[in-house]
Amino acid sequence: MVDGLIVDGSLVEDIRDTDLPLFRSVQVGFHNINYSIEAADPAAKKSNPFSKAVTKEKSILNDISGVFRPGRLTAIMGASGAGKTSLLNVLAGHTDGGSVSGSVTVNKQPVSGSAMRKESGFVFQDDVILATMTAREAIAMSATLRLGDAVSAEEKERKVEEMLDLLNLRKCAHTVVGSPTLKGISGGERKRVAIAMELITEPRILYLDEPTSGLDSFTAYSVISILRNLATTGRTIACTIHQPSSEVFALFHDVLFLAEGQVMYNGPTSKVVDYFGRLGYPCPEHFNPADHVFMAILNNQEGSFEEKKEESNADRIKRLIQYWKDSPEAADLAKIRQNPPADTVTLKKNQTAGTSYSTQFKYLLEREFKNSVRNPLVLRAKAGQSLILALIIGLLFLNTDDKTGYAANQNRVGVLFFLSTQAVFGSTMSILGIFAADKLVFAREHGSGYYSLPAFFFSKIGVELPSIIVFPTIMATIIYWMVGLQVDAAKYLIVCAFVIMVSLTGFALGVSLASIFPSLPVALAVTPLLLLPLMLFSGLFINDSAIPAYFGWIRWLSPIRYSFIGLVKNEYAGLQIPQEDGTARAGESYIADLGFSNGLSILLCAVILVGMAVVLIAIAYAALANIVRGQENSKPARKGKGTEVAEEGAEMEQIEVVAVKS
Ligand SMILES: Nc1ncnc2c1ncn2[C@@H]1O[C@H](COP(=O)(O)OP(=O)(O)O)[C@@H](O)[C@H]1O
Ligand SMILES: [Mg+2]
Repeated sequence: MVDGLIVDGSLVEDIRDTDLPLFRSVQVGFHNINYSIEAADPAAKKSNPFSKAVTKEKSILNDISGVFRPGRLTAIMGASGAGKTSLLNVLAGHTDGGSVSGSVTVNKQPVSGSAMRKESGFVFQDDVILATMTAREAIAMSATLRLGDAVSAEEKERKVEEMLDLLNLRKCAHTVVGSPTLKGISGGERKRVAIAMELITEPRILYLDEPTSGLDSFTAYSVISILRNLATTGRTIACTIHQPSSEVFALFHDVLFLAEGQVMYNGPTSKVVDYFGRLGYPCPEHFNPADHVFMAILNNQEGSFEEKKEESNADRIKRLIQYWKDSPEAADLAKIRQNPPADTVTLKKNQTAGTSYSTQFKYLLEREFKNSVRNPLVLRAKAGQSLILALIIGLLFLNTDDKTGYAANQNRVGVLFFLSTQAVFGSTMSILGIFAADKLVFAREHGSGYYSLPAFFFSKIGVELPSIIVFPTIMATIIYWMVGLQVDAAKYLIVCAFVIMVSLTGFALGVSLASIFPSLPVALAVTPLLLLPLMLFSGLFINDSAIPAYFGWIRWLSPIRYSFIGLVKNEYAGLQIPQEDGTARAGESYIADLGFSNGLSILLCAVILVGMAVVLIAIAYAALANIVRGQENSKPARKGKGTEVAEEGAEMEQIEVVAVKS
């Protein structure tokens, strides 16, 4: 087993004993970490199923102390549900909810969650990368948006190239990342892209949650050996891992075994077998030590160690955890934690990263544009929908201008109503799905510091605007001339404007629904419930003068109604409808029949529609801002006990190693 680094054929325990450049090394220490969440209490629920949800404090991590050493790769191992992901999240400052106590230090400095987030990279188990970006573009995005405006474009390019080489991504650089529905790069390549996106900001500390899950054993080996190489240049890397092969296990410098939210061992991988051997669990020869710990010690259901058969699994784990606390190894580790290597603590202020709003906005606009070009199906579907629907309606109501009497009137009202309803339904439903998916990408990318909310929000609207203008116009044009509404340029343009405005309101409604509701299925369930009354009260199904007072207010909320009234007033003004008896009836009298002889002029309807769109957009923005605030507040409140108490919100200085070697 190799512990340390091989330089010129000889083994060195510590990179600081070599002439290799040390990469801004920092040591992460953590002491007495406790993490608990409010969880629904199933016991209380059972006794009274109608009682309000009773919550109970559920402890997930219990008094965890340990250290991630610079220049070393640490594995966090343990059974499923042991708390590996939770520990990583707490240390990296990524917890959402729950209460955290204890202290996290970088070298000797206590750090808050938000400072740690700035200081470290985090590769999530389920990486969220926009499917239509190529591997290279994804890495370049990270460079463009996260390296700050102070770094020149050429320098960013150079770093992207460097990452492609470092992570062996040349072959797939120009392949799209892909998604379940879009064929893209392989799972191992995808993971390496996610790692590259973090590494490009040169974090001193890198956390990875299950970087090998879903990969075959060879790919897993290659990913972990890349991590090991990165660590040996002085970075501090910790990853959770589930059942590594013995080859992969041997790549880790250190391990941290977790059982039921507590530490069972933390220290060099090379000493694991000795340590557990001493406790009476010798690893059989030719046996994977990782499997040995996993099967025989962490999950020993069968009692394969005869002499301890009478001891239950839970008791054994309790005993082993206590044994670790009292062990000389734990005492040694505490010393290491309290005395980080002296040559790593020279601090100096770093320039602040992050790009300007305009860089972010421009970048996102371009990315979204590329996304829609590479995802032509969505655009084609929208175009096809507009064309086909318009032709069907056009044929259905063909030459209404030749009709007389009741039919002529019914057709006109019908087609104007259809234009209003379709625009709202069409745009609400189409943006709902898109925006709900984008919201997830946004939450992740914003959390990782790629861009701000306004840059995302307004670029998204900017990209969608053309299709809100073009497709409704196509539809309105085809229908207008096939049906034979009044031959009048001004009236035609007003119809187009109304269909665009009401589409815009529908779009804004979709965006705010997608922003407010936590998931797409919920939003999809609520939307019809909202849209149907808006349609019902739009003035076609029930006469305006007949709506009962207790429902009267709903009509004022219906964008379909404002559009419908505007379109009716536009078309019927100056219209003469021929009757069966040869006379003609003035269009204005129909307006009165519909109950629309009110103060709502065409202009007022238009103003209200645009106003509604603005209000809905503002609501959507507020909902997203709320999500963002939740993310920022996830910084754990440290109410630590013990000596190394971190002050709440204590910001760590940006540090840079000046002295490389003492
Ligand atoms: N937000 C949460 N709500 C409820 N239970 C949680 C939450 N986060 C973690 N847990 C619970 O904490 C335990 C540890 O979870 P986790 O850290 O994901 O384990 P691991 O990554 O080791 O599989 C599990 O029992 C899990 O159900
Ligand atoms: Mg996990």
